[in-house]
Formats: sequence, C-alpha cells, structure tokens
Amino acid sequence: MKTYNIAVVPGDGIGQEIVPEGIRVIDAVAAGYFKCDYTFFPYSAEHYQKTGEFMPSNALEILRPFDAIYFGAIGHPDVDDTLPATRYTFRVRKGFHQYVNYRPIKILPGVPSPLRAAKAGEVDFVIVRENTEGEFSETGNIIHPETPGGFAIQTSIFTRHGIERVAHYAFQLARKRKGLVTNVTKSNTLIHSMLYWDQLIGDIARAYPEVKYERMYVDNASANFILRPQHFDVILTTNMIGDILSDLGGALMGSLGLAPSGNINPEKEYPSMFEPIHGSAPDIAFKGIANPVSAIWSGALMLEHLGEDEAAQRIEAAICTALSDRSNWPADLGGTTATTDVTDSIISVL
Ligand code: NAI
Ligand code: MG
Repeated sequence: MKTYNIAVVPGDGIGQEIVPEGIRVIDAVAAGYFKCDYTFFPYSAEHYQKTGEFMPSNALEILRPFDAIYFGAIGHPDVDDTLPATRYTFRVRKGFHQYVNYRPIKILPGVPSPLRAAKAGEVDFVIVRENTEGEFSETGNIIHPETPGGFAIQTSIFTRHGIERVAHYAFQLARKRKGLVTNVTKSNTLIHSMLYWDQLIGDIARAYPEVKYERMYVDNASANFILRPQHFDVILTTNMIGDILSDLGGALMGSLGLAPSGNINPEKEYPSMFEPIHGSAPDIAFKGIANPVSAIWSGALMLEHLGEDEAAQRIEAAICTALSDRSNWPADLGGTTATTDVTDSIISVL
C-alpha cells in the first residue's frame, strides 16, 4: 500500500489540539486505500521556553526527506512574538521554496456567512499569496531606539524570479477554475516595489490570453470582499496583503476556525507544508473548544497535493455534510460541540 511520510509539527496552543484531529480524519479516509506514517516534532514557542530553540539548526535537513509537513500554528503569550515567524515559519517557507501560499475561501453549504448576500457555491475563490519575500523580507534595523532620533527601517524585497514564479502558478490555477486573475497590490503608493510587481505580472498575463486579468488596489479589494465576494476567482497578491486579506476571507466563511492553507513548492523539489490560516489562539487554547475544521481541511489540501484527490474531496464533502447539521457546530460558529466531537461527526460521515 502506498505510504506517505508526514512530518507533524502541532506547534503551540490550539495547534496541539486540532492537528491530532486532522490526523484522525486522514486515517479514516485513508483506511484501505493508502497509509500515512507520522513523525512528530515539538518545534514551537513552548519548546523554545524549555530548550532555548524553536527548532534545531539542522531542522530543514531533518524535514527535507518527508513527503509533506502538517503544521498547526506557533506563538505563545509568554514568548517574544517576533520569534515564531523568523525562527520557524519563514525558515520553512523560504528554505523549502514554498513560494505559493494557497488559501481557498469558500462559503460552505450549511454555514451562514456573516454577509447576508454571500451564498454557498457563489463565493469560492483562492488567495494565491507570494510566500517567501516581499514585505516579509527580514532586512532592516531599529537604530538608536532609546534616543529622540530613533528610527526603524524595513525593506521589502521583490525579485523578478519571485514575482514571476508565483504569477505563473496563479494563471495556471485560474485556467483550471473560472478563468479570472485579480492582481491585488497598492502600487499607486508603493511606487517602486509594487509597481515592478504589477509590470511583471502584466507581462505574464499576456502569455495567458484565455485568462481574464484585472488589477485592484487592496483598499478597494477589501471593500469588495464585503460587497461582492462572488466576483473573485484567483486573487494573486503579495506576502503581507495576502496575509491580511486571508483572515478577512476566513471571516467571510463564518470563522477563521474553518480556513485552511497550503505552503506549496509547486515543483515538489521540497516538502510542502499545510496549516490553518489562523494562529495558536491562546485565548481559547486547551479548553477543548477550538474548531478543528481548519486543520482537517488543511489535511485535505495536503492529500490533494500528494495526489490523493479523491480522499481530499471526500474530506471536504464530509466537512460540509457534518456542518450542515447545527448540532455539530463548535463555539466559534455559535454552537456548543467540543473539538473532538466535531471531528467525530466528520468521521461518521466518512
Ligand atoms: P489567532 O488566529 O490565533 O486568533 C484570532 C482569533 O480567532 C482568536 O479569537 C481565536 O480564538 C480565534 N480562532 C482562531 N482559530 C480558531 C479555531 N480553530 N477555532 C476557534 N476560534 C479560532 O490570531 P492572534 O490571536 O493574532 O495570534 C495568536 C498567536 O498566534 C500569536 O502568537 C501569533 O503570532 C500566532 N500566529 C501564528 C501563525 C502561524 O503559526 N502561522 C499565524 C498567525 C498568528
Ligand atoms: Mg496570518
């Protein structure tokens, strides 16, 4: 039987609660068809508190041979919150050239969006976020912070290579979907970095004449997320804009607790990493009430990436069926169902 080797990094807070739920669902859908072998890694802010490091210096070498990485979230209220991204997330995303952050936003049948006009089936788009450079480049410094002349600089880095590769991914994705790419930037004010981005993407758009291409500034795009989310198909955007818009997308779906993502290395030269779009949610951690759907759906994206399309579709369908019954709703959707019981309801549909 085909076996996939999965590195599991539950991380902190609710990551430790919902990643095991995702594994239960993956095992349920895999039974009889394929197998996943899981190796757990403690990389997290909690691990940093105990050992002084988020992950060992050779962690990328350790993770490299795996077929995929299944991740929760990291960040702990007692740990400097500038560290989790730079010591773990950015290292994996950049080190493994996971230059596409794939974030599907769709309204599920049975789960009402907070937007009256947004209906299941009509709102179904993907945010393709550039995931390795842009505004989240770590170049910069804080100079003489304690003095009256203190200042900080942080430089965005946009490279031709980085822009073009994610653009090709977005146009190829749109070709398989509804055929519209919306490029979201703020090039009217970030007149160097994002103008270069727009110019290169405009050139690439011409190589995909069958895909409709449009540009939209992020302020207008945020308004359109609320006013006409039905409009979008593939949103191609930069690292920070994609980060912000995808939390808004999660809210459109009804809760961040539903929203999955994949950090994808399309060439499959390196393992890709799958994680909810949200963080470690310390405000609700270890109460048994977190919504596991974000992690379960991220698991489905992982199986799709591994070539198990049917298993992925079955998980997504089971999520929809389970959630169309309000008695399976967790607290963030306004219900009272505990994390593990939400998972049980999905497994029983499977
Ligand atoms: P968050 O996404 O952890 O939480 C935002 C709100 O959404 C909270 O009220 C939380 O309870 C709720 N929420 C999130 N996921 C939920 C779920 N599955 N079920 C029910 N409710 C859910 O964002 P926040 O509070 O800004 O950050 C908390 C920590 O997570 C910080 O340390 C931050 O740095 C870290 N973080 C880590 C990320 C990662 O590892 N990729 C991404 C975003 C934040
Ligand atoms: Mg985020």
